[in-house]
Amino acid sequence: MTNGTQRNSLPQRIGLFGGTGFVGSYLVDALLANDFHPVLLVREGSKQRIEQRDRCTIVIGDIGDDSAVRRVVEDCDALIYNIGILREFPDRGITYEKLHVEGARRTMDAATVTGVRRFLLMSANGVKADGTGYQRTKFRAERYLQDLDLDWTIFRPSVLFGDPRGRMEFATQLST
Ligand SMILES: NC(=O)c1ccc[n+]([C@@H]2O[C@H](COP(=O)([O-])OP(=O)(O)OC[C@H]3O[C@@H](n4cnc5c(N)ncnc54)[C@H](OP(=O)(O)O)[C@@H]3O)[C@@H](O)[C@H]2O)c1
Repeated sequence: MTNGTQRNSLPQRIGLFGGTGFVGSYLVDALLANDFHPVLLVREGSKQRIEQRDRCTIVIGDIGDDSAVRRVVEDCDALIYNIGILREFPDRGITYEKLHVEGARRTMDAATVTGVRRFLLMSANGVKADGTGYQRTKFRAERYLQDLDLDWTIFRPSVLFGDPRGRMEFATQLST
């Protein structure tokens, strides 16, 4: 385990899952602007999406890959789980269950095992146990986190607006 105290004056390392998308691009910028060092799990082929990649540590892998997730987590002082999808493609293995629930749990479990206590979860406004598939799975990830002995924060934004930076984010999809 590493933490800010042990590293003394070195920048705190923040593990970011979902750092290549719309919100993630702003998170990377904000982390760097505030003197944190982002450690990103990045899928094969997505590295070019990170503008300031030379200033980040990048671990290539999918959120379903235990060892890649572990490599990010064990090198960090705090974690942000920001992966989320608006639409499932079950025939390609892209489901809410895998990305909202299993991926989040894998990251939270790795945090527990390695002793990284600070955990930020990007959820969404209106999540609930009996909602849509998106809402139910986000809700279950929240519950799982709340039952762990971690220092957690859950964000529940509604629609996020901003320069999409060429990405097809939710607000752009609504307007096309
Ligand atoms: N945008 C909004 O208005 C809004 C509102 C409320 C909540 N949220 C939440 O905010 C978070 C970010 O949303 P966003 O709009 O920025 O979404 P986005 O642009 O689609 O970004 C999704 C991120 O998840 C990553 N990802 C997807 N599947 C993955 C996998 N199998 N393994 C590893 N990484 C994977 C993507 O990586 P690739 O680059 O490789 O695809 C990307 O970095 C989500 O949890 C979303 O539910 C967003």
